[in-house]
Amino acid sequence: MIIAVDGPAASGKGTLAKRLAAHYGLFHLDTGRTYRAVAAAMCDAGHSLDDSAAAVETARTLDFSGLDAPRLASSAAGEGASRIAVMPALRAALVERQRAFARAASADGHGAVLDGRDIGTVVFPDATVKLFITASPAERARRRALELFGEEAGPNFEAILTDLRRRDERDEGRAASPLRPASDAYILDTTQMSADAAFFEATRLVDKALRN
Ligand code: DC
Repeated sequence: MIIAVDGPAASGKGTLAKRLAAHYGLFHLDTGRTYRAVAAAMCDAGHSLDDSAAAVETARTLDFSGLDAPRLASSAAGEGASRIAVMPALRAALVERQRAFARAASADGHGAVLDGRDIGTVVFPDATVKLFITASPAERARRRALELFGEEAGPNFEAILTDLRRRDERDEGRAASPLRPASDAYILDTTQMSADAAFFEATRLVDKALRN
C-alpha cells in the first residue's frame, strides 16, 4: 500500500503523512527532506547549487538515516532544496531512491506514506490513494510563523508569506515535475480545518479507497 501526499510548502502535509503512517502501520518518507539533504550536503562540499553532476552524485550516495537532522528544517535548507529541485537529472536520481525506499517498505510486509510535490504524478502514479493537501498562502504563513516563532502574525509574518509565495512559484512553474495535483487525487483544502479535522478527513478518504 502506497499513500501519496502532495501539496505546497507549509500545507501541513508532513504532519498529516506522519500521522497516517502511524495510524496504518506504514513507513514514512518526507521526500522534501531528500531534496533538503542534497542541497545541504552540496553547500557543505562547496559545490554550486547549479552543479547538476554534483547534485546527482550526492543524491546517489545520500544516507537516508540522516534525514531527521534538525538543520534540514531551516528555511535556508528549504530554499536550497527548491532551487536544486528544478534539475531533471537530480530529480530522476532522487525519484529512484524514493521508489527503492517504498519497495523495501513493501517487501517488509508494510507499505509507505510518501509526502512531497510529485508523488502522485511521477514517483507513484499508481499509488493506492493520492491526497493533495492545500491551504491559502496566508493560512500557511500563519502556521509556519506559529511553528518557527510561536506567534501567528508577528514581525516575521510578511517575510514568511513572501518566502512561501516565491517557493510556490518555483515549485509550480518549473518544467520538471511541477507541483500540481494528480488527476485522480483527492484535494483537501485545510484552510478552515484543524490538524485533527484534516487527519480525520484523510483517514475517511484512505478507508474509502481501501474498500474499493
Ligand atoms: O516539502 P519541503 O518544503 O520540505 O520541500 C522543499 C523543496 O523541495 C520544495 O520547495 C521543492 C522540493 N521538492 C520537490 O521538488 N519534490 C518533492 N517531492 C519534494 C520536495
